[in-house]
Amino acid sequence: MYDNDIAVVGLAVMGQNLALNMARHGLGVTVYNRTWEKTEAFMAGPAQGASIIAAMDLKALAASLKKPRAVFLMVKAGSAVDDLLDELLPWLEPGDIVMDGGNSHFEDTTARVLRMRDKGVSFLGVGVSGGEKGALLGPSIMPGGPRQAWERVAPMLAAIAAKTGDGRPCTGYMGRDGAGHFVKMVHNGIEYGVMQLLAEAHDLLLRGHGMEARAQSEVFDEWNAGSQASFLLEITADILARRDALTDAPILDVITDTAGSKGTGLWTSRSALTLGVPVPTITAAVEARMLSNLRDLRRMSAPLLPGPRETPPPADRECLGRALFLATLAAYAQGFALIRAAEEAWGFGLDTSEIARVWREGCIIRAAFLDDLVHDSPARSDAHNILLSSAFDAHVASGQAALRRTVSQAANFGVPVPGLASSLAYYDSLRSARLPANLIQAQRDYFGAHGFERTDMPGVFHGPWEE
Ligand code: ATR
Repeated sequence: MYDNDIAVVGLAVMGQNLALNMARHGLGVTVYNRTWEKTEAFMAGPAQGASIIAAMDLKALAASLKKPRAVFLMVKAGSAVDDLLDELLPWLEPGDIVMDGGNSHFEDTTARVLRMRDKGVSFLGVGVSGGEKGALLGPSIMPGGPRQAWERVAPMLAAIAAKTGDGRPCTGYMGRDGAGHFVKMVHNGIEYGVMQLLAEAHDLLLRGHGMEARAQSEVFDEWNAGSQASFLLEITADILARRDALTDAPILDVITDTAGSKGTGLWTSRSALTLGVPVPTITAAVEARMLSNLRDLRRMSAPLLPGPRETPPPADRECLGRALFLATLAAYAQGFALIRAAEEAWGFGLDTSEIARVWREGCIIRAAFLDDLVHDSPARSDAHNILLSSAFDAHVASGQAALRRTVSQAANFGVPVPGLASSLAYYDSLRSARLPANLIQAQRDYFGAHGFERTDMPGVFHGPWEE
């Protein structure tokens, strides 16, 4: 008879590492996997010596847990979660808590919260970021759903989460329903954007300036030593320094130039379009991966479509670094703006300052500058775009000229920089007190009699198009 604290269902690498992390923090853990062989291999390997027991079925899993039970699902997102809930429900009792730590779509999570509530079971959608290593050593954890259920599992989540410099866990209540998975989705959208920006900076150094990988690694390291220090910058520097074990070539030389995705970037763009929030850097990143997959077309077109013949000057790493920082801030700004709009539309209870704090360590988009958003006064951070945050004044001021120069140079050399260019256009749109949407209004009225608003009086008017 066991009296375990929590069960982990799904023993792919993330599930295994979370279970090990929980056990390391003193929790009694039960594990279960649909395929028993995986459970056996885990128990005989990584789990040896840990306070972990294996359940052969869900009945045994339920019996091994203290009540109210806490079950953490770490299975493939989608129908597997629903299948598992159906199988699990007969063994659960009112008051039990099921957490879904996978990358589920937040709308699915909201539906599951309601469905499980009808059965008396609390369902929490829990965004988990940090990759395999994060899951083992301390991820950033974004739980959402019924608050009372969260309060009961919060100490366990806090124990296994990454910690900030002051010792606070990188987890906190994100909000009701699918809030946790919504925040994780936006996290991934920002991740797409920043990864694309880094890839473009690398491409500019390579194709624009002919800099070899090793030297590039030093440039990225240098940037990472300053105010824009981030996990993604750090790993980019590391990747550029690595060589292929087979050929001894720089590792990037042997990796194909096509990038796949599991769809969370697309979800972010789609949600943003639905809510009417511009996230151009994130969408550019999603589309850049699509363009990367048009490899045959690109290869066929390369000798056929003419380009510029300009010879680039030597790289100005300082300028590119400042450009990269502002473009990165713009990607975060878009993500935070989406969160604010979602809060206005759906009232999840999202708090941008708390989200910045939870993203500060453990997750893939962790970055030192997030501290500045945690300390930002709620009034300023809630009401405005983070590019207006006083903490970023100096970076914005020096970054805008650098980003402008970088994007125009890239255009002159013929190096595509959709992420950098989108960040610049976003920035310039924000600073345009007047945009040419007056012409759009006029055009809509001209061909569709949609009417337009005037600058000098209220109401809807039509133009003199028939005259
Ligand atoms: P991987 O991450 O190894 O590619 P995956 O297909 O994403 O694997 O599945 C991740 C986890 O979800 C695995 O533990 C998997 O169980 P199996 O080892 O038996 O494949 C689990 N999983 C996927 N679909 C499931 C389902 N319908 N019911 C229960 N568990 C499921």
